[in-house]
Amino acid sequence: MGKSRLPTGGTNLFQMIKAKSAEAEAKGIKLLKLSIGQPSGPALLSARRAAAVAIMNEKESMHEYQDNGSPGVPDFAKRFIQFHLPSLDHVAVDYLPIPGIKPILGLVPLACGCRQQAVKVATTTNPGYPTPRDWCGYLGVKIQELPLTVENAFRFSLDDIEGDVAVIMMNYPHNPSGQVATREWLEELCDLCVAKGIRIFNDAAYIALSHTEESVTLARVADKFPGLSWAEAYSASKLIGNGTGWRIGAIVGSPDFVADLKTVKGNTDSGFVAPMAAGVLAAIIEDKEGISRCREIYGHRMKILINLLSVQGMQLAVQPGAGFFTLWKTPKTAFGETVQDAQHFNFTMIERVGVVGVHFHPYIRYAVCSDIEAMLHDLNAAFQKAKVSY
Ligand SMILES: Cc1ncc(COP(=O)(O)O)c(C=O)c1O
Repeated sequence: MGKSRLPTGGTNLFQMIKAKSAEAEAKGIKLLKLSIGQPSGPALLSARRAAAVAIMNEKESMHEYQDNGSPGVPDFAKRFIQFHLPSLDHVAVDYLPIPGIKPILGLVPLACGCRQQAVKVATTTNPGYPTPRDWCGYLGVKIQELPLTVENAFRFSLDDIEGDVAVIMMNYPHNPSGQVATREWLEELCDLCVAKGIRIFNDAAYIALSHTEESVTLARVADKFPGLSWAEAYSASKLIGNGTGWRIGAIVGSPDFVADLKTVKGNTDSGFVAPMAAGVLAAIIEDKEGISRCREIYGHRMKILINLLSVQGMQLAVQPGAGFFTLWKTPKTAFGETVQDAQHFNFTMIERVGVVGVHFHPYIRYAVCSDIEAMLHDLNAAFQKAKVSY
């Protein structure tokens, strides 16, 4: 029997939470799932209709390899990016269609020459979406996990960036804190990166779910920094209702960085599925209302959940400005007992009252992808029983 040739990793966090939830459910506990971190249901009807028409299209361009372009959906990347932003026509930028953000994260260090020279990557992965850290691990690239804390409100301090960092792979709006990048902070960061020759990549997967005007992307400040090497990724996954399986997105950035990404991507990836991109394009052109409705639902549920949990004594780690996650400090006591850490709190809540979150010690994440209003009564009762304190 052949053995795995990979280093052994710890048990996957989500598998562990699932197993704990199944155990509680088997004992008759009703689960209140605040752990689900992706949109529920289908994609917007407008997107599905247009994708269905596109797939019946007989043109070869709709069915062939799209590679680094989008022959089936001309100019998709530029049109998709411009849905999110004011015009960038006055800035030297290039565009690249992508099959979602996740697979591209591994190409970023490669496009920064990590196989040719030592490249240290700073990430926003602790707490955070772990994929940049995992990719760097597979590639043997050194990382610095930038400190993200209640004190810096999950917007890393420029003083914390180590001297030998060559690339910053960040994620704003940030998963799981919901923190957003502001114009002022981004400008300071860009200034520093120009001075030090650091490349910046931002994963803007949640930008369309911004609940505050303060939330700004790198592309919106880039015109002030012609010397900056930058790229920013956008995704349709959470934009068109549930587009997570559609695998459609786009990158915008300075021509040098995008050219390097194109080189690596062109050699390793065949592009997205054009009919799905046609569906996304139709939604952003014809169904702005449907898109806004999705965002508003999350914003509304977030307000309800934050209010409910705050009244029950839970303390937010930071006020979320985007997305569908809320991040909380782990209480010191619950059910009259001392809480050891975030996992202990999460598992105790699952076992005793069925509330399922995702623990990232010292925080616990509760998402609003499920219908919070329908759970209101049960959630209230659950946290009343828990009687948390700090
Ligand atoms: C921060 C972040 N980036 C990227 C992704 C994945 O995006 P995509 O579906 O475009 O690959 C996720 C999905 O959960 C995410 O949370």
